[in-house]
Amino acid sequence: GKGAAMVTAVAYRLAAQHAERQSILDTLRLSREQLLEVKERLSEQMVRGLSKQTHEQASIKMLPTYVRSIPDGTEHGDFLALDLGGSTFRVLLVRIRSGKKHTVDMHHKIYSIPQETMQGTGEELFNHIVDCIGDFLEYMGIKGASLPLGFTFSFPCHQSKLDQGILLKWTKGFKASGCEGQDVVTLIKEEFDLNFVAVVNDTVGTMMTCSYEDPRCEVGLIVGTGTNACYMEEMQNIELVEGNSGRMCVNVEWGAFGDNGELDDFCTQFDHTVDDCSNNPGKQRYEKMISGMYLGEIVRNVLMDLTAKGLLFRGKVSERLKTRGIFETKFLSQIESDRLAMRQIRSILQHLGLTTSTCDDSVLVKEVCSVVARRAAQLCGAGLAAVVDKIRQNRNLNQLTITVGVDGTLYKTHPHFSSIMQETLQDLAPQCQVTFHKSEDGSGKGAALITAVAWRIKCEGQH
Ligand code: GLC
Repeated sequence: GKGAAMVTAVAYRLAAQHAERQSILDTLRLSREQLLEVKERLSEQMVRGLSKQTHEQASIKMLPTYVRSIPDGTEHGDFLALDLGGSTFRVLLVRIRSGKKHTVDMHHKIYSIPQETMQGTGEELFNHIVDCIGDFLEYMGIKGASLPLGFTFSFPCHQSKLDQGILLKWTKGFKASGCEGQDVVTLIKEEFDLNFVAVVNDTVGTMMTCSYEDPRCEVGLIVGTGTNACYMEEMQNIELVEGNSGRMCVNVEWGAFGDNGELDDFCTQFDHTVDDCSNNPGKQRYEKMISGMYLGEIVRNVLMDLTAKGLLFRGKVSERLKTRGIFETKFLSQIESDRLAMRQIRSILQHLGLTTSTCDDSVLVKEVCSVVARRAAQLCGAGLAAVVDKIRQNRNLNQLTITVGVDGTLYKTHPHFSSIMQETLQDLAPQCQVTFHKSEDGSGKGAALITAVAWRIKCEGQH
């Protein structure tokens, strides 16, 4: 009868809607073959980045860091460290004590950097930084002490020695004018005479901090606002630096992978939108599919699309949903927490100003978050597979045992990111036995440790 026909029509409509939702989500799912392809292409770019002939064109820059030695526990003294790279600037006083039980003691102060300063002129940014350093020295009562200083500056830099960092290009939320092509040490020294010993990427600081406790640690990984890795490469493969013996840490700058189109096959319309609306369109394409600064934006764009198609939020695209940046990393992590009941997800969404009407809406939002985070973790795992396999091949090993030092809020707070990443890594690099070691405050401590090693070597040279 008529009733039965209506029920069938409703069932049919629901099935069609389900299929439509899934086909949108499917564009964000990667197969094993695709992930293997990502690993292969990334490996290729790493080789191209290292070689003199292809370095210019390579998307991945493989920047030499001039960090060769790992701390041996005999480092000693008081050091200053600066840390710039996320949304804050930190100044630290680090006391390193050698001996049987080496210890590291830290005092720090965090200074916020207003968005206008991050994206204003370089002069404003560096004046602000210099003011913060002055404030800290006064606060600690060490003005004029001239302590050896390490600067964790988490952007791609060209270095031809340890105590230099020529900014190649800003990434993440930074866009201050007039800094690219400049040495950050000079920019600060013009105002303040400090004893700069080392400029360090956050990945390198993280690796160093971890290797202080575990000598097997020869890779550093960051999955936070941005994403990047570093590792110990054979000197003979680093064509941009003279010398063939031993190893040097290379800052991969893998965030830029895909900038020559290597990821186009895997990108969705959502990735293109997020890229177009970013500070640096066309740049850092791999980073934009993985790191905390962008995942929430991908999710928001998927939700907008689903809503516009009438598949979510009763088809009503609210002003709130149209607002950039509402989905911070912490919400992604909360929504996916297994301990949460659907009604708690609903209250998170309500808190975001997204008044969900149905329970189905909460289920779908959670599914979107999970698909986007899974893809990010898998892509990151594929990258790491390329890195550890390169180390294994460098050493002609059948089997490599290695430790990766990791830091970054997304990695540390997301309930599934690390396990999915490790699963992918094991699948794509089965000949590598990888242990992960979370680093506590790697970038600040690491800069001080690198400074301490360099300082020890310098002082030894003077005796
Ligand atoms: C960006 C920077 C890189 C840094 C990473 C993590 O990718 O370019 O230098 O290591 O973010 O902070």
